[in-house]
Amino acid sequence: MNKKIQIALFASGNGSNAHALLKAATQCKNIEIALVLTDKSNAFVIERTKQFKVKTEVVEFERTAAPYRKDKESHEKKILDICHKNCIQWIFLAGYMRILSSHFISQYPEKIINIHPSKLPDFPGPKGYEDAFSAGVKSSGITIHFVDEGIDSGEILLQESFDRDPDDTLETFKSKGLKLEHLLYPKVLNKLDEFGELKRGYFE
Ligand code: GRF
Repeated sequence: MNKKIQIALFASGNGSNAHALLKAATQCKNIEIALVLTDKSNAFVIERTKQFKVKTEVVEFERTAAPYRKDKESHEKKILDICHKNCIQWIFLAGYMRILSSHFISQYPEKIINIHPSKLPDFPGPKGYEDAFSAGVKSSGITIHFVDEGIDSGEILLQESFDRDPDDTLETFKSKGLKLEHLLYPKVLNKLDEFGELKRGYFE
């Protein structure tokens, strides 16, 4: 049995947060990112993972004639099997664009973490930057939280703000936010490395 805490990253796209976590993990003593899992065979996160020599698994979502719920169940079953086979103990979502079922979450109680690009509870959902920007906020933020059965509603671990400047475009606004994401998510990973668990109090 591997003594290091085994972590999986789930990502669907670009993978810049996965990259920041993979890089940070190279300096950690007690944790290991053992798996990067994606639901998209063309996700750039696959390219990014290569330099770290971490196992990558692609589990595409397959739509069949069965009801959507059944397809989702079988997709998640494949993912859970892979996680169990790799002795995964914690899951960090890093731009994973699927909502996990309550069954899936019950297999990893308080062991699934997500990063969301807004100051939750404001602007949950898949377009955190876009929604905050078009609402005209003067400042926004980044939230890292436990995943529960709701949408971006789990207990918050860490949250930080960034300002929107009057001349920001959506692109500059997003790139400021992403820079902050890449600082904050490794901080959370480092706390897990240090304490073997995660609590809000570690970040206060
Ligand atoms: C990030 O903005 C993250 O907060 C959100 O999805 C985006 C993923 O970006 N959940 P990347 O794939 O890590 O570059």
